[in-house]
Amino acid sequence: MRLLVTGGAGYVGSVVAAQLLAAGHQVTVLDDLSTGHADAVPAGAEFVAASITEAGPTLARGFDAVLHFAAKSLVAESVGRPELYWHNNVAGSLALLEAMRAADVRRIVFSSTAACYGEPDRVPIVEDSPTKPTNTYGASKLAVDQMLSGYCTAYGFSAVSLRYFNVAGALIRDEQPLGERHATETHLIPIALDVAAGRRPALQINGTDWPTPDGTTVRDYIHILDLADAHQRALSWTGEHQGHLICNLGSGSGASVREVVEAVRRVTGRPTPAEDGPVRAGDPATLIASNDRARSVLDWRPERDLDRMVADAWAFHQLAGQPVSTGA
Ligand code: UFG
Repeated sequence: MRLLVTGGAGYVGSVVAAQLLAAGHQVTVLDDLSTGHADAVPAGAEFVAASITEAGPTLARGFDAVLHFAAKSLVAESVGRPELYWHNNVAGSLALLEAMRAADVRRIVFSSTAACYGEPDRVPIVEDSPTKPTNTYGASKLAVDQMLSGYCTAYGFSAVSLRYFNVAGALIRDEQPLGERHATETHLIPIALDVAAGRRPALQINGTDWPTPDGTTVRDYIHILDLADAHQRALSWTGEHQGHLICNLGSGSGASVREVVEAVRRVTGRPTPAEDGPVRAGDPATLIASNDRARSVLDWRPERDLDRMVADAWAFHQLAGQPVSTGA
């Protein structure tokens, strides 16, 4: 298939694009490099340096489907500067959908988020749970989910929104390893690996008195290669169905901050000091996905455990300091 991947120079978009290429698809990456990296565009993909508001001329060349990853994705930034999120994520996605409609491209897989649910009433979280985002990032992704429902009803689109929980790991391969490289890093595993590598003195644990088994926050971590596999299945779904499917993507089980730190120590063999710190504003205690829908509708199974996520992220972390050939 001819596929347009927006945000294909970012962490998730680049890995999914690489796996789509490996599966034999033709991939065009559209990315404005505002947060992505040119050397993360997978070798073999065509690259268009443009924003999602400028996708029209590219789409007009003829595509079977779009995988839409391009977005701003920092929760704290979205609270301080909401206009960036309404502009880039919501208005930008609207422009993309309009360009798709004009070009008669009606299949889309969208990168949504667990942040659509906000503080859950119960875990595991099912897709029919109330959507009460607690920050503009989550609200902007939820708005796009709702936009997609409307386009499916009105214009015969076929859309899958994949609500990611905590994505981790990397695609390790000789020619072009792909992983997480954010200019502003807030995520637990990359920060813990910085500590393991000696680039930071200690990890701050954001609260140790939560109502969880060990007092630290619990999250549902999923390997990016399992996530990529779900995108391929979602893409197939859009070829066989009309309408809007929303699926959580998580492992279905939780790991606490202390358990993640233990995994980092085990995998890296480094001491990885961790200190008790204050809670981070807006953090829920526990987020765990129900992945029953993805299992039953997409026939998807997560296969890689937390140690594998940490091992692949660690391998990438060690490689990322060195020049990487794009092969392009
Ligand atoms: N944490 C620490 N110390 C750190 C970094 C993180 O204790 O140095 C804790 C956080 O407070 C949180 C947990 O580790 O409880 C995981 O934190 P991450 O920042 O890795 O991930 P989040 O669960 O906060 O965020 C994820 C996604 C977001 C999404 C959000 C939905 O990365 O994109 O889930 O709630 F919006």
